[in-house]
Amino acid sequence: MEKIVQPGALAEVEQLEREILSSIAQASTPEELEGVRIRYLARKGSLSQLLDRIGQFPKEIRPEIGRKANALKERAWAAFEDRKKELKARAQATLLDPTLPGRPVVSGSLHPILELRARIVQIFRTLGFALADGPEVETEYYNFDALNTPPDHPARTEQDTFYLADQELALEWDQGQPKKGRLLLRPQTSPVQVRVMQSHKPPIRVIAPGRCYRRDEIDATHHIAFFQVEGLVVDEGISVCELKGTLEVFFRELLGKDLEFRFRPHYFPFTEPSFEVDARRPGRMFHGKEWLELCGCGMVHPKVLQGVGLDPERYQGFAFGFGIDRFAMILCEVPDLRFFTENDVRLLQRLSPVV
Ligand code: DAH
Repeated sequence: MEKIVQPGALAEVEQLEREILSSIAQASTPEELEGVRIRYLARKGSLSQLLDRIGQFPKEIRPEIGRKANALKERAWAAFEDRKKELKARAQATLLDPTLPGRPVVSGSLHPILELRARIVQIFRTLGFALADGPEVETEYYNFDALNTPPDHPARTEQDTFYLADQELALEWDQGQPKKGRLLLRPQTSPVQVRVMQSHKPPIRVIAPGRCYRRDEIDATHHIAFFQVEGLVVDEGISVCELKGTLEVFFRELLGKDLEFRFRPHYFPFTEPSFEVDARRPGRMFHGKEWLELCGCGMVHPKVLQGVGLDPERYQGFAFGFGIDRFAMILCEVPDLRFFTENDVRLLQRLSPVV
């Protein structure tokens, strides 16, 4: 503290007043201001000490000193509070600069394959299709027998399909109906066709997207787990025309208006006739190839209809199925299927399927 140069008690009060008020005005941070408070205004500060000493001054000047010292106390506290508010407001003003650009919010996103699936569902909704679902753990019955698959069909072997080891579980799960066979991880979404025809009467118009599993070597274009979308339409008077029209409208919407199609005869046990559909885009290749395989399809086999109690003379249907992972690769321009399952978050941030 500065030495009091002016002699006399009144001069002491005036000197203290100048000192306190200028210290408050000069305090430029809340910490400095707090220092001023402790030095002068707190219990042991010099102003409080002066007030304590009033009784010791000569009688004649005591009342005036008392008045002045108390007035100073009031003024000093008022100045202190004002300055405190000022410094607080200044600190807040520097904290919040509304002219700064906002901090980016990192938001989550759907996996590109799920995003693509959602878009596929959306397109089929506009074509009047409903969503159907079936279990990923299936029975041999639903996956093969009910789909007219011969007992010696190669897909039934353990080289192609994952079977679940626990046979007792299979029987229990089947509610004691051994004809439904062993449990397996479904290698296709086609068994959902049978489940839908068992639980719903025609007209039926559904798609069933879902995960499938196959005993494949994992490489750039194959994985043991992948997504398929199954489609099924059953009604009176359905022909290959509806099949062709539906698939062409759908794939043009998904992959580009300029698609050209090729329907090749093929074999699937559950459709007759059966086709594989390819497409090309004039002037643009699909990952270096002119023709892209789109899907398998066909007219629902009369035996499949009979198996679920539908009269093939009255009802016809078409079915189709395709894997969507390869479309995701093309739309996201990803050269290797494994990127989709490597959990590299950059894939989620950057890639979104585009037409
Ligand atoms: N399930 C077949 C597969 O995984 C694809 C398929 C072909 C589904 C023809 C169908 C169909 O519904 O009619 O290769």
